[in-house]
Amino acid sequence: MRVIIVKNYDEMSKKAAGIIKNRLEQKPDLVLGLATGSTPMGLYKELIRLHKEKSVSFAKVRTFNLDEYLGLKPDNDQSYHYFMFENLFKHIDIPRENIYIPDGLTNDPGKFCQWYEEEIEKVGGLDLQVIGIGRDGHIGFNEPGSSLASLTRVKTLDEQTIKDNSRFFEKPEDVPHFAITMGVGTILEAKEILFLANGASKSEIVARAIEGPVTSQVTASILQIHPKAIAILDEEAATSLQRKDYYKYAEEQVRQFEKNS
Ligand code: F6R
Repeated sequence: MRVIIVKNYDEMSKKAAGIIKNRLEQKPDLVLGLATGSTPMGLYKELIRLHKEKSVSFAKVRTFNLDEYLGLKPDNDQSYHYFMFENLFKHIDIPRENIYIPDGLTNDPGKFCQWYEEEIEKVGGLDLQVIGIGRDGHIGFNEPGSSLASLTRVKTLDEQTIKDNSRFFEKPEDVPHFAITMGVGTILEAKEILFLANGASKSEIVARAIEGPVTSQVTASILQIHPKAIAILDEEAATSLQRKDYYKYAEEQVRQFEKNS
């Protein structure tokens, strides 16, 4: 895994947006996997800014979101539908029909999840998947113990996740206990993965994900076996990494090499 350590959240967001801009230049009909939560908000802000200054277009892009709470209507302000429209989609030129987000109101989750997998396959798979990490090591809502080969399905949220996500809800009891999520296997199939983490509260789990054993107990650790995963971490999220100095040194070497070639 390539590990890029930057100063702060702002730099993390800009670096990630720069990578997406570059991939869009190479492939305007990019298939993007997207995440919600506080981590990618700065990235989305930067993509909106780049779009407004006409540096990027999403007219041919298709997006697939990682997850959605089960039981929340799309217009519920805690749903991931709402989050994505408010924080990204309504500010860019992506056609509505190119946006895929799991349907939290489906009355046949099994069938829906299979359809979601098929839609991803139909467009040739995910080119680039953006992910954050939960404090229990989850990616998407793949809580500890999720099969590392899992596909899109319903998961029961972990107590820690419910507690962490209650900050967005009026009352903790309002947090749904189930979600539809892409599986670990679905994420792993993406051609490239952009793994973002910021803040001191993530440092311990980030170190376990990047330097610990690959285990279903920290589903983010599966990124270690992905051929093209890039972690972009701010200084705080990187504090517990044992090989932090090496990652910084390696990036500096790459920078020098690129400058001289
Ligand atoms: C969100 C998602 C989750 C979050 C994770 C971190 O779509 O899939 O895995 O990425 O819970 O959330 P934040 O960014 O709020 O710390």
